[in-house]
Order: sequence, then structure tokens, then C-alpha cells
Amino acid sequence: MPYETIQVDPVSPLIGAEISGVDISQPLGNQTFQEIHDALMEHQVIFFRDQGMDLDQHKAFGRLFGELHIHPTAKAPEGHPEIITIHADENSKVVAGMKWHSDVSCDEEPPMGSILHVHTIPDVGGDTMFASGYAAYEALSEPVKALIDGLKAWNESAQVHRDRFGASGKLRDGENAFPESLHPIVRTHPVTGRKALFVNENFTTRIEGLNKNESDAILKMLYDHIATPEFHCRFRWRENSVAFWDNRCAQHRTVWDYYPQVRHGYRVTIAGDKPF
Ligand code: SIN
Repeated sequence: MPYETIQVDPVSPLIGAEISGVDISQPLGNQTFQEIHDALMEHQVIFFRDQGMDLDQHKAFGRLFGELHIHPTAKAPEGHPEIITIHADENSKVVAGMKWHSDVSCDEEPPMGSILHVHTIPDVGGDTMFASGYAAYEALSEPVKALIDGLKAWNESAQVHRDRFGASGKLRDGENAFPESLHPIVRTHPVTGRKALFVNENFTTRIEGLNKNESDAILKMLYDHIATPEFHCRFRWRENSVAFWDNRCAQHRTVWDYYPQVRHGYRVTIAGDKPF
């Protein structure tokens, strides 16, 4: 695809591209916005370097792509409920995103995208990995595609937000409410029309209509499949890098290999629609 106002350099054949020639903290012209959008549709996750951005500028960039999503439980900086803090240090017992996932797939309308700005990084390590749900789906055999194409699975959050992260008290949806939703295992991307595998080991718990043994075995096979390195790219952060991923067709997981060092940043998440 020709780009005129930005430069787009793929980081792997199937997923991920680095974008240069744009300052996303500033208002964007229509064409630049459209080209960033097109690059995201083409590559599923896009990366920017050297973006000094405050929280308001971060939210303004996110709002170009849709309304902002409010996380059911995650900590937000004072006065910015649409932002979640991503932080790890010597006191951390867990960090967000250590299993492959699509953000907040437990919601009825899971977020379309997420924009992570990391400004404090460890000396080395702390990468984020991304997996293409398109590549994973397309690589399945026809009989397995036929088996999963019509199935739906439950995406739950209590086992993540309450049991792993200890969230409690007043949540977005009320006292001790942990969202759960039934979504297709294979979703069709509303913009590209491509099919993507849409189960993840963080939130997806069981396939509707199957007995537990069947459901566990099929989910394990699909999680192992998503973990195939050929479907991946891996992003090495620098100070003030930004990653913007499309949750409808890409999964991600963070790599916490830098304990006890500090890694700190903020994520803006963009509302999405009901998967079909
Ligand atoms: C996330 O899952 O949003 C966090 C990713 C990261 O910190 O690398």
C-alpha cells in the first residue's frame, strides 16, 4: 500500500510495522490519520519511536480512532479514568499481560485497539510479543477450521482480575462484578473482512456446548497454536516508544524478564464492537 505522509517499515512478514515521520502528540491531518489507520489494518500492530506525550495528548490520539474504553478494574492515574497504568518494580508480584491475550475480551464489546506508551524502561528486556490471529487462523487445517468456525467460547475475568491481580471493591460495573461474555472463537474483522482466531489463554475459559474435556483439549490446542513463533513479532522498547495494536486480530503478551528493575508507562484503550 503506498503511504505518502508516513514511512511504514514492516518488522516481520506477517505482523507489525514501525511508523516514522509523524509526531502523534500533535493534531494530525486527515491523510496522515488515514494512513496510520491503514497501516494498523495492514500490519495489526504498529510502533512509533521518540514520542514525548502527556496523558491528554495520549488520549487525544486515541480518540481519533474511537471512544475510549474504561477498564473494569485497572488502576488509573488521578483524573484520567480512560488510562491504565502499566508498572513493574521490585515490589511487583505480577505484571499485566503475562499470558497471551486480547485486551478485555471478557467485555460484551471488547476494545478495538490499545495504545501503550512506555517511558521508563529497564536496561535490557521488557519486550512485548505480538501474535497474528489472522495467520494463526489461516494456518489451521480445513477440518479444524470447519470444527471451530461455528463455535463460541466464554471469556471471563474473575480468574484474572480478582484471583491473579486481587481486584475487589467498587469496580466499573459495580461491587465485585467481573464481566464475562460469549464470543465466537473465530471472529471476522469488521474493517478487513478477514477471519482471526479469537480465543486467548488469559480470558477464554470454556467452549459453549462442549463437555469440559473436549473444551479443554481444543482450547489448549489453539493456545499452543497461537504461541507459534512464525505468527509473531517482538517489540524492543526504547524510552518514549508507542505500540498500537488491533485487539480484533492480534494478541500480545509482555515479557517480565527484568525484575527488579522499573518499567513504567500508560495505556489508552479504544472501545470496540460486538465480535461476529
Ligand atoms: C498489556 O497487556 O497491555 C501490557 C503489555 C506490556 O506491558 O508489554
